[in-house]
Amino acid sequence: MNIGFALCGSFCTFSKAFEAMKAVASIHTVTPIFSFNAAGIDSRFGTAQEHLQQVRELCGCEPLCTIEQVEPIGPKQLLDALVIAPCTGNTLAKLAHSIADTPVTMAAKSHLRNGRPVVIAVSTNDALAGAAENIGRLMGRKHYYFVPFGQDDPKEKPNSMVADFSLLLPSLEAALEGRQLQPILISRS
Ligand SMILES: Cc1cc2nc3c(=O)[nH]c(=O)nc-3n(C[C@H](O)[C@H](O)[C@H](O)COP(=O)(O)O)c2cc1C
Repeated sequence: MNIGFALCGSFCTFSKAFEAMKAVASIHTVTPIFSFNAAGIDSRFGTAQEHLQQVRELCGCEPLCTIEQVEPIGPKQLLDALVIAPCTGNTLAKLAHSIADTPVTMAAKSHLRNGRPVVIAVSTNDALAGAAENIGRLMGRKHYYFVPFGQDDPKEKPNSMVADFSLLLPSLEAALEGRQLQPILISRS
């Protein structure tokens, strides 16, 4: 299968996302996609260039980093599924409101016109606050599936939730069969 694997700017989860990407790439052909911020921000979790290089090596191809590069995904039916991992609160909000102004949100819009699955691995500190309604909206929308997620630090960050990236591949395989991997809500503490 041809799988799009889109990364957003939750840099603390990149190492886990890369492990999941490796697992997906061992079975499927992976087209990597970076949001503008994922491709441009250097942080204590690594530089943008280091992240791009790691993904090049994992997938054996150049990541798509512009809106014009991802636009053909829908018209040319390039992907069987699109994974967004990690998916930030910012990108969740845009997807929930059909905003397509980044390579990741545009890839989702373009891909969804074919009625094929989008698999989301949430990672955001406001999952149980501002982002909660956006997660809820997407859960109720056709073709969206979630990697099971839970509170990662209920005491220090009570509104934060993060997907279990080790469940990304089984979530993707289930989504390709039209199923949501269950349970969606898991205990992470
Ligand atoms: C070091 C660092 C870590 C961040 N971690 C997260 C995160 O885990 N979740 C999140 O929603 N945003 C996080 N952000 C903020 C996003 O990068 C920011 O909202 C950005 O606009 C997201 O853009 P994108 O969704 O297009 O990638 C982080 C930012 C920085 C600099």
